[in-house]
Formats: sequence, structure tokens, C-alpha cells
Amino acid sequence: MIRKIGVLTSGGDAPGMNAAIRAVVRAAISNDLEVYGIYDGYRGMYEGKIERLHRKSVSERINRGGTFLGTARLPEFKYREIREVAIENLQEYGIDALVCIGGDGTYRGALALDEMNIKCIGLPGTIDNDIPGTDYTIGFDTALTTIVDAVDKLRDTSSSHRRCSIIEVMGRNCGALAIWSGIAVGAEVVVCSETGYHEDEIVDKICEAARSKRHAIVLVAEKVTDVNKLAKIITDRTPFDARATILGHIQRGGCPTPRDRVLASIMGVKAVEELIKGNSGCCICEVNNELVAIPIEQALTMKRDQVSEKYRAFKELW
Ligand code: F6P
Repeated sequence: MIRKIGVLTSGGDAPGMNAAIRAVVRAAISNDLEVYGIYDGYRGMYEGKIERLHRKSVSERINRGGTFLGTARLPEFKYREIREVAIENLQEYGIDALVCIGGDGTYRGALALDEMNIKCIGLPGTIDNDIPGTDYTIGFDTALTTIVDAVDKLRDTSSSHRRCSIIEVMGRNCGALAIWSGIAVGAEVVVCSETGYHEDEIVDKICEAARSKRHAIVLVAEKVTDVNKLAKIITDRTPFDARATILGHIQRGGCPTPRDRVLASIMGVKAVEELIKGNSGCCICEVNNELVAIPIEQALTMKRDQVSEKYRAFKELW
């Protein structure tokens, strides 16, 4: 039976992480468990940055972006010696279980701890929506809203000047942010790893748009191509003058949307329930509007190609 649980956020921050921490803290206390915040992710676990949290510690947090526990990336956590030190620190506080909030790197850390007999549950916190086991990750909806808001503004000026706006969005190796926002803004072209980069096709599409519209919008997922070079190609080969905008880290900040707050809150409660049931090595996923706990390994490796499916619809919409 567990008595004390720890909660941490790790990897890139995501709006809604505070709501998830709040839910874990409140659900733990409601079930007579002590709860501890681990600052700066696995790095803080290794450095012993741990503090008891109370109901009040998470007041006024639900609407705030970022993560008040702080976050970090610690690639060295893959080494057993590093994890052994981290586990000793947990033992000093008597922490017997953890909720780890983050993306796939965070999940791999949780899995490695589970194999060393620390009970762990993962919560999907990343703007990228790149964890195959869940339909949505905490932070995706807010980042999408930020992108759509920015592109709507770019469209105003693009249209005034008869230009093509090329917008680079985040997503690491996943095109979810690019394709979802492409659909939401009615873009002419989306380029991401799932669609591939086909220069002639892009140019043809923009030329076609130029025949009937005052602007064109191209959404590009980071790492697929250089958006400034693409702007030059479009300026040289189409009637539009093009401008590139890299949205960058603005996509990771801001107040979480109601959807992210709700998702984070119900997932946080479910994580505590799973720990109380004695489960470990699992993560919480939203599948067809229902929360389920599945093994982390399965969540990271299962095949679910939501991006290509959305891209098929995108192509029908233009
Ligand atoms: O995983 C979230 C994310 O924002 C990715 O979309 C992006 O590739 C990466 O993190 C950026 O990381 P950093 O903030 O360390 O530059």
C-alpha cells in the first residue's frame, strides 16, 4: 500500500501541466496520501529538490501556463547510477510512488524507475500530441489555439499586401500541430514529415491560389525544411511575395484552454486512482473520450496515424 507520492514535470513544458499537478495533489490528499513536489523533473530528483505539497500549494495554479515545479531535460537519467542516486533521494522522504508528467522522454524515465521497483504512472504533457497511445496530450489544444490566433493575424497583413505567409510551427518529429492548424485556418499547404516536402507541388498550389485569392498560407512543421529558403522559392516562382514567420516558444506559453485544464485535471485524478489500485509502469491516455491506463511501452510503440488521416481530409477541403 502506498502512503507518499511524488509528482514531477519533465521535458518541454506544456500549458495544463499546473492543472495536472494540482489534480494529483488534491486527489492524493483526498485519499489520505502525502504528496511531494519534485522540482525540475528528473534532474531535481537526482539533486534532491523535493518538498511536501499541500492543498494550498496548488491554489491559483489551474489557469497558469508553464509548470510551477519547473522542468528540465536530463539525458543522463538513462544511466542506472544516476537513477540510483535519485531513488535514494526519494527514499529519504519515504516516497513510494510517482506521477511523471511529460512526453516520451519522461515516459522512458518512468519506465526505467518502474523496473527499479518505484511505482510510476505517466501523464502525457506535451504540446506535440506525439504520444501514439492517446488521442490528445495535455497542452496540445492550447498550442493549437495560439497558432490559430497567430495565423489569423498573419492572414490580415498577408491579404492586405497580396503575400504568402509561411509559418513554422513546433511538433518535434510529429506533424500534428501543423496539420490540425492547417485545417483550422484553411491553409493552402501543409508540410510536415508525414506529408513530405515536394517543392513543385507547393509552388503549383500557391500559383493556383494566386489566381483567385489575395493571400496564401503555408504551415510547415519544424525540421522539415528551412522556411526562409521556402519563402525565397515562393517569391521567385509564384506571383506572391512571401514572408516566413517562426512561431517558436510562444507556442509553449499562455493560459491553458478549458479543454487542456479539464483533460489535465481528470487525468491527474485517474493517475492517483491507478497508483492506489497498485498499478505501475502505465500511462493515462484519452481514447475516444474515455480515460484508460495502458502500459507505457505499448503507448510509445503502438501504431496510430492520426496525422495522415487528418491530411487526407485537409486535401479534400481546399
Ligand atoms: O516537445 C516540445 C517541444 O516544444 C518541441 O515541439 C520542440 O521541438 C522542442 O520541445 C523544443 O525544445 P527546447 O525548448 O528544449 O528548445
